Amino acid sequence: MHNNPIWNQLKDKAKQTELRDLAALWQQTNRHQKFTFEFGDLYLDLSKNWIDEEALDLLQELTTQAKLSSAIDKLFKGEIVNVTDSLPASHTTLRDPSHKNHQQNTTSIYNLADQVNSGTIRSAFGRKIKQLVNIGIGGSYLGPRLVIEALTELQSESIIPVYFAASVDDSLINQLFKSVDIEHTLFCISSKSFSTVETLMNARAVEKKLKRIKGYQPNDKQSSLMAITANQQRAREAGIPEGMILPFDDSVGGRFSLWSAIGFPIVLAAGKEKFEGLLAGAYQMDIHYKNEPFLQNLPVLMAMMTIWYRNFIGLDAYGCLPYDARLRSLPKWLQQLMMESAGKMHNINGEVIEYPTTPWVFGDHGQLSQHAFFQAFHQGVDALPLDFIGVLEKNSSSQNFLLFNLIAQGAALMQGKEEDHSMKGCPGNKPSTTLLLKNMSAQSVGQLLAMYEHMVYTLSVIWNINCFDQPGVELGKAIARDIQEHVENNTLNDMALDPSTMALIKKVMDQ
Ligand code: F6P
Repeated sequence: MHNNPIWNQLKDKAKQTELRDLAALWQQTNRHQKFTFEFGDLYLDLSKNWIDEEALDLLQELTTQAKLSSAIDKLFKGEIVNVTDSLPASHTTLRDPSHKNHQQNTTSIYNLADQVNSGTIRSAFGRKIKQLVNIGIGGSYLGPRLVIEALTELQSESIIPVYFAASVDDSLINQLFKSVDIEHTLFCISSKSFSTVETLMNARAVEKKLKRIKGYQPNDKQSSLMAITANQQRAREAGIPEGMILPFDDSVGGRFSLWSAIGFPIVLAAGKEKFEGLLAGAYQMDIHYKNEPFLQNLPVLMAMMTIWYRNFIGLDAYGCLPYDARLRSLPKWLQQLMMESAGKMHNINGEVIEYPTTPWVFGDHGQLSQHAFFQAFHQGVDALPLDFIGVLEKNSSSQNFLLFNLIAQGAALMQGKEEDHSMKGCPGNKPSTTLLLKNMSAQSVGQLLAMYEHMVYTLSVIWNINCFDQPGVELGKAIARDIQEHVENNTLNDMALDPSTMALIKKVMDQ
């Protein structure tokens, strides 16, 4: 980007001291109106950020230079945007009611859900299915978990309660077996590739356990195992009956997959209507993203802010703080979405890039964070971009109190406070963004999640990277497999590993 004039202008702009001074920025007329945006069920307030109109205009020019409009067209027209795997990214087709993928996807999910709910499909013990355990990790876990928590508040409210087994961990699996009524449980292996070691190990542990229980008699109409995958062949080879496999397409990226068959647990827990609402909300955001001018376009504005802080102001972290327990899994979902999609050092041509990409994403339920790490926000030496996310539902004074806390944090960070005793004072001038959802309807949640998805795509276009692959995660997995093989073959000493790593493996083996 060295020779890019807009990039250089933005760099110069970011050096202006008044841009990092919220009190000075608030001298501008109509700042609040100018930096507040609304679409659908979302209200976005960017006014507490270190930004002015000129910077925003320059950022918009950057999007023009990056040919964002044509990149958005390519995404929605199903052209190849995942250049590494030569695939389009078809998640948006799943929420477009006029697209055949939408019809196919929902028909197959609802058919199976109906059969489970009506008792036509039973567990391998001949019992009615009353619970589901989702065995999956990453994108095959985080999206369904977040949406189920958001839309079903309490497990008891779920039509069919859903439990999750993600990482390989004996204690978690044992705990899970204690929590569910195994004979009434459907175990759902959710894996796009059907080759993720953690998921397959957990699936095997479950199968082993099931086979040991008296009365386990799987056949075509009764099965305690099902699969959701883009690799049906592997699922069949693993012995999953054909009617218990929900397919989805390879062109749906793992972290963008909750709209696909991966959303089946959402349908069981929250019902078809809510899943429809979720898809409809996401579709509304798709249309907004496609058509709205960039300076009014929520995902693009969010991406511009990320670029501004990361590449020009030079901040390397970003906090996601939902002030609503129902959105407690949003930070984790967003962490994967941003860090796995945009944690890249190569551009789409495979060349090493010289500018930083994703910030380190972290966060938690707002009030818990308040009592854990907000001290560092208020009096730590750094500033970092923060998203405060709240849900407007005037249903109780405690819910309002929660929202007042959210609002107070943004104000306190910005205003600060002088005290006689200097150590008690807060310097203020710390930026933040506030995002309010009208309610926790399926539609609002769909809009919110699609907004972040499109934010990430926009970032990838400006950074000229592929946000739909994740080759970096392979190395660690390969070394783990290698260690396992050498341990099994008793050839550990042949491994070309450093002394620290070798000593750690021996510690495990000698315990
Ligand atoms: O972390 C790597 C990854 O490939 C993610 O991209 C993906 O969401 C996760 O593993 C699970 O993959 P799968 O759905 O193929 O089991």
